[in-house]
Parts: sequence; C-alpha cells; structure tokens
Amino acid sequence: MDERHHNGIAIETKGLVKQYSEEVLAVDRVDLSIPSNIIYALMGPNGAGKTTTVSMLTTLIEPTNGSAKVLGFDVMRQAGEVRRRIGVTFQEMVLEADLTGRQVLDYHGRLYHQRVKQRQDRIDELLTLVELQEAANRRVHTYSGGMKRRLELARGMMTNPEVLFLDEPTTGLDHQNRANIWDYIRNLKEKRGLTLMLTTHYMDEAETLADQVGIIDHGRIVVEGTPRELIDQMGADTISILGQGDSSSFIKEVEALTFVQTLTMADGFIQIGVDSGNRRLVEIVSLANRSSFTIEDISVAKPSLGDVFLKYTGRQLRDT
Ligand SMILES: Nc1ncnc2c1ncn2[C@@H]1O[C@H](COP(=O)(O)OP(=O)(O)O)[C@@H](O)[C@H]1O
Ligand SMILES: [Mg+2]
Repeated sequence: MDERHHNGIAIETKGLVKQYSEEVLAVDRVDLSIPSNIIYALMGPNGAGKTTTVSMLTTLIEPTNGSAKVLGFDVMRQAGEVRRRIGVTFQEMVLEADLTGRQVLDYHGRLYHQRVKQRQDRIDELLTLVELQEAANRRVHTYSGGMKRRLELARGMMTNPEVLFLDEPTTGLDHQNRANIWDYIRNLKEKRGLTLMLTTHYMDEAETLADQVGIIDHGRIVVEGTPRELIDQMGADTISILGQGDSSSFIKEVEALTFVQTLTMADGFIQIGVDSGNRRLVEIVSLANRSSFTIEDISVAKPSLGDVFLKYTGRQLRDT
C-alpha cells in the first residue's frame, strides 16, 4: 500500500457536514481519523447519518461543508483517484435479478474496463472467497438473502480496493449468515490488508468485528474508541432496575456510593455501572428499601455497546 500520501490514515474528515434541506442536517461536523488496515464501525440507529457519511466518503454525494480524504485524496477535488481505490456495497442492493451471480460480477468488472482474463481470475477468486462457486451460474433471483449479501460483498471487491465501505452488511440476515459475513470481512482485513468501514445498527456486530467504533446519533459522533475501551468505562457490570415510587432521592443516594461508576436513565430503567454486580446487588436493594422506592425488576449483566449508546444519548439502541 502506498503510504506516502496519507501517513497510515485511510480515512480522514474534518468538520464534515451534509445538510439535505433547512430541516435535515444529516451529518453534523464529523471528524474522523481512521488508520489503515482496521475495521471501523460507524454504529447508530436509523436516521443517524451513517449512509450519508458513507455516500460522501465514496464520492456519491457532495458534502455541504468540511472536508474528507480517502487514502490522502480529497473526495471532491480528487474524486476519480478516490473511486479507483475504493469499493462500496450498499444496504439497498442493486443486484440485477435476471443475471447470474457470475454475470453480475463480470458486468461490474467491465464497467471498470477490466480485461477478460483479469476479470475471470478475479471472479473465480471472489466466488471462492464468499463461497458462491456452486451457485455462480444461477440467476440472482433464486438466491437467499444471505447469498445476495455475499455476492454484493464480492462485487464490492471486484476492483481490488484498498478501502471497502460496507453499509449495513448484515441487516436482515439470520445469525449463521451474519457470522459468515463477519468471517469474510475479517479475512479481507487480515489476509488482504484492506481498511474496512462498515455501518451498523447492531451493537453485537460492532462489538465483535470492529477494531474501532464511532457511535453516531443525529449526525454527530458522540463517542469513539475500541469496543473494549468504550465498554470498560461503563464499569464491570450493569445493574438494571425498574421500579416505582420516589426514584429521585434513590438515584441521588446511589450516585453517592463510591463503587458506582455510571448511572443512566432510559425508558424507565435505571442503569447502574458497578465494579461487581453480584457483590453490590444487595447494597443497592437495601438502599431502595430504606428509601420510598420499590424495585419491581432487577438484573445484572455485563455492559454492552448498547449501554454505551444509552449513556451518551439517553436512549436505547434497539437491535431491530
Ligand atoms: N436524499 C435525501 N434527502 C433528504 N433527506 C435525506 C436523504 N437521505 C437521507 N436523508 C435524511 O438524513 C438523515 C440521515 O439519513 P441516513 O444517512 O440515511 O441515516 P442512516 O443511514 O444512519 O439510517 C435522516 O433524517 C434521513 O431521513
Ligand atoms: Mg443507512
């Protein structure tokens, strides 16, 4: 990989903004600095601005303000240089249903003026990568959802990109298919040295796959870090409480406890990050008994990126 232009930073944005209309500010002053050869997950709920961010980075739409570079090339002034080095697969698939899998890939290679031999070698290699050799000559409309996603991934790889953008690569797939796609994505990073930027609203996807996560909400990156860093700041365990009565004085007393690391409220639940859930459960319950707050439901769990999302946005990120 040519490191001269970008000093190991594959994707860099400064104050990136996309305003679709007076009311719709889809991306709001986003600063990113993503090193080469990592998997970066942009995680957030529907409407957060993920697809819009990817669309600007892949030169499909123009930023309203700010700047973005991919591999050191400016997405506006050097769009051709960017396009030559990237691949992209979108959530809304545009697979031609009447073509076979092989034809879809062949067509894509021809769009990029690849020679016959180069195209065929590449197609065979990619069909093997995503395990679609056997289905290669079947029409796409006979494919399952998982097979279509795999073909879409292969298509994104046809031009041998250095950076691959994956917009919601596993949305709607069942667990086994998602796990397969995760394996292919890891393989692209580890065996081929790609930089991958994916968007997702699945916290488990970001947690298991990403080297770095940026949590995006209302067009803003609210927090960024490795999944481990983000989850560790939540405390070792999360005690989650639903109850009735005067929660405000209970919450004040809980906050004053030295072992409480975080406290957030959402959808009626009080979430308390503590050093050890099992040890602290009793103390929390007896504190509630002494105040006029009645616990109706209490559970202990390891914190997840969902809890991190909750802490920074005050809302639950649902896996649907
Ligand atoms: N072409 C468009 N024109 C106007 N508004 C848009 C357009 N595309 C997306 N939006 C709006 O921009 C916001 C961000 O959308 P999007 O980037 O698609 O979010 P995500 O991919 O995180 O679900 C949403 O409010 C959405 O309705
Ligand atoms: Mg989207």
